[in-house]
Amino acid sequence: MQQVTLETIVSLAKRRGFVFQSSEIYGGLNGCWDYGPLGVELLRNLKDAWWKSMTYRDDIEGIDAAILMHPRVWEASGHVANFTDPMIDNKVSKARYRADNLIEEHIAKLEKNGKHERARNLAARLSAAREPEDFYQIIIDEEIADPASGSRDWTPVRYFNLMFKTFIGSVEDANSVVYLRPETAQGIFVNFRNVLDSSRQKIPFGIAQIGKAFRNEINTKYFLFRTREFEQMEMQYFIKPGMHVEQFEYWREQRFQWFLELGMTTDVLRFKPHDKLAHYAAAAVDIEFKFPFGWGEIEGIHSRTDFDLSRHEEYSGKKLEFVDTGTKERFVPYVIETSIGASRSFMAFLCHAYTVEHVPDAEGDDAERTVLKFHPKLAPIKAAVLPLVKKDGMPEFAEKLYRDLQKSFNVQYDESAAIGRRYRRQDEIGTPFCITIDGESLSDGTVTVRERDSMQQIRLAADKVKEYILQRIL
Ligand code: GAP
Repeated sequence: MQQVTLETIVSLAKRRGFVFQSSEIYGGLNGCWDYGPLGVELLRNLKDAWWKSMTYRDDIEGIDAAILMHPRVWEASGHVANFTDPMIDNKVSKARYRADNLIEEHIAKLEKNGKHERARNLAARLSAAREPEDFYQIIIDEEIADPASGSRDWTPVRYFNLMFKTFIGSVEDANSVVYLRPETAQGIFVNFRNVLDSSRQKIPFGIAQIGKAFRNEINTKYFLFRTREFEQMEMQYFIKPGMHVEQFEYWREQRFQWFLELGMTTDVLRFKPHDKLAHYAAAAVDIEFKFPFGWGEIEGIHSRTDFDLSRHEEYSGKKLEFVDTGTKERFVPYVIETSIGASRSFMAFLCHAYTVEHVPDAEGDDAERTVLKFHPKLAPIKAAVLPLVKKDGMPEFAEKLYRDLQKSFNVQYDESAAIGRRYRRQDEIGTPFCITIDGESLSDGTVTVRERDSMQQIRLAADKVKEYILQRIL
């Protein structure tokens, strides 16, 4: 992957219609983004690739649960009590920060300045911090200043719940409070029995879901990386207790492989085990991607024991166990969870695809081209149909082919500007195939197919083009 700044990615994303700021004409809404014509295709292709790899197999079923759920769900899951971040305000700048992030940034600064031991000690202190006062004391002891104003005049630290609250029905009181789900996983846990009873699955089996999640993040940052509305693709794999070590290993490898199959490379991906495990977790590892701003989590694989199902049993009063009809054994299944952000990994694939190259232009001179080297499965537009010139029957030939291809996949027609410029335009949005109709096409029915990355051209009969492309994008 090439070095690229986040500004370049954000600007390309807007210019070419991948991502726009939400409500931009009103000045934008912090932490929310809209997907434009190309972005929506890329996101859809990414979700499709995940959906196919996770649910087109014998042992995993898909669901699509409601975003609004019974409020007791979030009590059982622990989100009402614990889904909080420590927050601090600076009295001078009025800026609000996550206290743990301020300390992490301070630790990174210490590391950068070669103060490794002090950084290590502080990291240990941060990792042990539980109460708001613990975070506050670190900020005071370390004399951490507000990055915006340089002031050290801080309010106390308070815990802030990240769930968005709203009301169901016409009365806005404590009894009608509901939350926008902060993760899709709970929709899967509460449907465990329904799926088990309505499908032919037996343990081990999984349930997968793609959907929106909402978190009222204190600080949104890095474009699509930390937003308040985003999409998750989660799968809970229900297993027999005791199988969790083996299954955790299996899923961690499967998920890493998935990124490689879609064109990512091992220099930009790594595993990062969690230093601090949640109280219910037996193991947890993140898959991190090397973003322009540094390494960041794109997916978490968590061994969650029987915590979630047991808590839902307790709070709902309904049995959530599996009965083995052969051995008559009863147990509450353990769960291995794979949880990836669709929007966050969208950004990772976009950054990874971004390439600037020097290639010879039509005259053989050195020219620069920007290419989005998406895997053909992910590319928003699969092919462009380009008549070499706007005469001699080429546009008519091209249009006929274009209309036919359009029935099977997303394709663009472009007859404006010199052919080289049209190739560059398609390169910049990551179109893997450009089909050119020239004089020969009219005499023998063949066209050229140019492959985006190698820029190699082959000649094919026009009626073979669809099959050729389909083989490469499915
Ligand atoms: N059910 C487990 C769970 O939700 P998580 O680590 O909080 O785990 C999983 O989230 C994934 O969701 C992350 O790896 C990330 O890709 C995505 N994600 C989480 N918070 C996000 C946010 N504020 N903005 C964008 N993506 C986010």
